[in-house]
Amino acid sequence: LSRATRTHESFLHCLSLHSEDSSLISKIIYTQNNSSYSSVLEFSMHNLRFSTPTTPKPQVIITPFHESHIQATIYCSRKHRLQVRIRSGGHDFEGISYVSEVSFVIIDLINFRSIDIDVENKVAWIQSGAILGELYYRIAEKSKTLAFPAGVCHTVGVGGYFSGGGYGLLFRKYGLAADNIIDAQFIDVNGRILDRKAMGEDLFWAIRGGGGGSFGIVIAWKLKLVPVPATVTVFTVSKKLEQNAIKLVHRWQYIAHQLPDGAFSFVVLSSVNSSQDGKKTILASFRLFFLGGVDELVPLMQERFPELGLVKEDCTEMSWIESILYFGQIQNKSLDILLDRTFQSPLISPAFKAKSDYVKEPIPEIALEGLWSKLHEEEAKSASIFFVAYGGIIDEIPETATPFPHRAGNLYKILYTVGWQEEDNKNSQRYISWIRRVYSYMSSFVSKSPREAYVNYRDLDIGTNNKGSTSYAQSSVWGHKYFKNNFDKLMRVKTMIDSENFFKHEQSIPPHLSRR
Ligand code: FDA
Repeated sequence: LSRATRTHESFLHCLSLHSEDSSLISKIIYTQNNSSYSSVLEFSMHNLRFSTPTTPKPQVIITPFHESHIQATIYCSRKHRLQVRIRSGGHDFEGISYVSEVSFVIIDLINFRSIDIDVENKVAWIQSGAILGELYYRIAEKSKTLAFPAGVCHTVGVGGYFSGGGYGLLFRKYGLAADNIIDAQFIDVNGRILDRKAMGEDLFWAIRGGGGGSFGIVIAWKLKLVPVPATVTVFTVSKKLEQNAIKLVHRWQYIAHQLPDGAFSFVVLSSVNSSQDGKKTILASFRLFFLGGVDELVPLMQERFPELGLVKEDCTEMSWIESILYFGQIQNKSLDILLDRTFQSPLISPAFKAKSDYVKEPIPEIALEGLWSKLHEEEAKSASIFFVAYGGIIDEIPETATPFPHRAGNLYKILYTVGWQEEDNKNSQRYISWIRRVYSYMSSFVSKSPREAYVNYRDLDIGTNNKGSTSYAQSSVWGHKYFKNNFDKLMRVKTMIDSENFFKHEQSIPPHLSRR
């Protein structure tokens, strides 16, 4: 028997020995010999860039039902020196929750997804394997005027999303999802189950924005629900080049971050093929969510952004939960779609590469013209660039309140995406080169020293840990981009909770003086 096979068998034996219910454990283990292995692996794989025959696969996937299954997996993985990857919704941009270059097992939290909404006290407990859509659906079942500030793409898992901060329609009013988490249940490297009190404030700080997969496994979160009016208003106004699109985007940069905090504004630049002549056009879509009625929104926009020419007919009033469907571009579907984990969002291609930037000074018009011509290139046929306005309460929360440091001083964040179909994976390098060219082109117009990035938009191009020993110098390259000076505190917390660096990946927070 090869060494790898022996390790694998000893690992499985260890799991059965250390599980309280050994008859159940066999039902939650998927090895490569199991006929369901591939379907379980692929079920929560949300970037098909990593669905190739040569992508490294896990030795074992475990889908625990009980905390004891997670504890046994951690114990046995440590004993047999297997790396653990934790997966909640599987939306990691770089596939970190299901791909690793070394022998690894996946703890897939798909069965950890109970949700308990307490309307009276305006709080909720939610397990990490639930998706955002399930959370929204369960809240809306009980109240039309309570919500939780999180993203519009409903298949995103709460485990990874909360771990990296998490922004959405309500973030200028109420902050990030992480700003609204008040307790958690966490399993550490020694299998201890800790709540906020037991883990202490530093670790509780780190798990709310320090990025997933570094400290341990968060199994559940306690959320503070927030009030929303029964009616909100939304609009999408799209402009082409000949309709002054570039001038309008340029102007938007001065306005959007100063709108009242009940307005969440973003612009999407994307290329579309005209249905008439098939010619490529770049559209700038101005999209806005507003906590209030149309009669309040239209005069506000006419005063602040008259150039856009917004009229009442551009706007639609709806409930908060309907606005999730609207911005997810699934407005014609019934609310039940929010429970569908396998739904492919029209907002992103099945296979993709993405990158992010922060903007502190308005970008000159000439630079926007350059972006337009990049979007005209052949590789950009499924590319989109999102400008997401900051400001509002984000400006008031100190940079050190959570690990997420991108607060006051940012006009907006940019998300660049380029996508393709799975069959086109053979050409992925062409698309990836395109997005890298765009990123390099933008360098003089965006934040510098560090060039900031959003950890939930994971991008391995900005730096990775060494494979063996992880030096501070190496990890601080990407660490300061995601966390600025909070990176040093994250390292202190990591040293305290996992000094041997068991929970590890390409961009996990290293402990001080890590050698493994
Ligand atoms: P996944 O399971 O892949 O986990 C992501 C990372 O967290 C991995 O490193 C994983 O190991 C770790 N992790 C997962 N569960 C954990 C747990 N229980 N304990 C500890 N570590 C854990 N973001 C945003 O802020 N606003 C938005 O609107 C969107 N929209 C959006 C749309 C689409 C289509 C995609 C693909 C992504 C987004 N995102 C986003 C980014 C999203 O927040 C990010 O990818 C999250 O990490 C995804 O969380 P999942 O649980 O789905 O991912």
